[in-house]
Amino acid sequence: MKILVTGGCGFIGSNFLEYMIKKYPDYQFVCLDSLTYAGNTYNISEFKDNPNFTFIKGDITDKNLVEEIFSKYHFNIVVNFAAESHVDNSISNPSLFLKTNIIGTQVLMDACLKYKVERFHQISTDEVYGDLPLDAPDLQFYEDSMLKPSNPYSVSKASADLLVLAYVRTYNLNATISRCSNNYGPHQYIEKLIPMTISRSLSQQKVIVHGDGSSIRDWIYVIDHVKAIDLIIHKGKKGQIYNVGGHIQKTNLEVVHQVLDYLNISKDNILNVEDRKGQDRRYDMNTSKIEAELGWRLSFNFDEELKNTIEWYKNNPEFLKKKKSG
Ligand SMILES: NC(=O)c1ccc[n+]([C@@H]2O[C@H](COP(=O)([O-])OP(=O)(O)OC[C@H]3O[C@@H](n4cnc5c(N)ncnc54)[C@H](O)[C@@H]3O)[C@@H](O)[C@H]2O)c1
Repeated sequence: MKILVTGGCGFIGSNFLEYMIKKYPDYQFVCLDSLTYAGNTYNISEFKDNPNFTFIKGDITDKNLVEEIFSKYHFNIVVNFAAESHVDNSISNPSLFLKTNIIGTQVLMDACLKYKVERFHQISTDEVYGDLPLDAPDLQFYEDSMLKPSNPYSVSKASADLLVLAYVRTYNLNATISRCSNNYGPHQYIEKLIPMTISRSLSQQKVIVHGDGSSIRDWIYVIDHVKAIDLIIHKGKKGQIYNVGGHIQKTNLEVVHQVLDYLNISKDNILNVEDRKGQDRRYDMNTSKIEAELGWRLSFNFDEELKNTIEWYKNNPEFLKKKKSG
């Protein structure tokens, strides 16, 4: 089995590779990553010399390169993690998000059709559904909920999802989509809430909170997401969307407090800044479909894995050093 993993030097892609390379020693993995500011070869250092792993630096929007790689390796499965992923950046530079997240997906799917790849899997997000009100805690997103993305990032992801579904219907591409909530764990770039809070605390800087921090996110440990993807690429059905979520609903402020408490740092170290434009209030995923159809279950505990994540950042100063220097 040969699997192409795009964006494998980023947060979730590198955790996926680490898990899969150990679990499937007979599979071949190729990672295609253009190493934007969010990509980090430190994330693949554990397995970069494994005989069943190959790294190729390149852009998923580069059609010639993508075709060259597909014709050389004859992949069975393609998993597309490559994306511009930070909402704030999408607000200041939407065009890069449209190019990478939509055109990049199209280039990969065209290559899948041309080289007869058996399965294309698109990594998507709960943000395509827009948000839920804070005062209706019972509301959740289902796979057939309306798409109501709020910012250029989530619009680019929703557009890619629609394109994937159109390729299934029009060209009979064997594709699946997973939509996951906020991941946390090792290897995440320091622009995101948890690693930002940890890294700024470790370097005695103020921790930044958007608005009053009352927006609610649903948190999932990255390996629970990785396990869901493993199930979907092996057992998921063509044209299906699977929601993945952690069922841990916390305000951003609660998460920041929990990190500060663990590091024994005063709450006075919080700096409240203007709220993000179009800030989503709350997300919550209904995950009964992937549980019933594929037998997926959550297996990690938030408090425990948050501590382990903080310890990982403390014990891997190389990761932080490399990222701060750009
Ligand atoms: N982080 C989350 O909480 C979360 C939640 C749900 C879904 N997702 C989705 O999961 C995927 C991975 O997210 P992440 O948090 O690991 O992102 P990330 O920003 O950490 O990593 C993205 C990776 O893609 C690479 N990349 C960017 N543009 C590229 C291009 N044009 N060609 C090749 N490589 C390119 C980057 O170098 C980087 O290594 C994204 O599609 C994101 O939308 C993320």
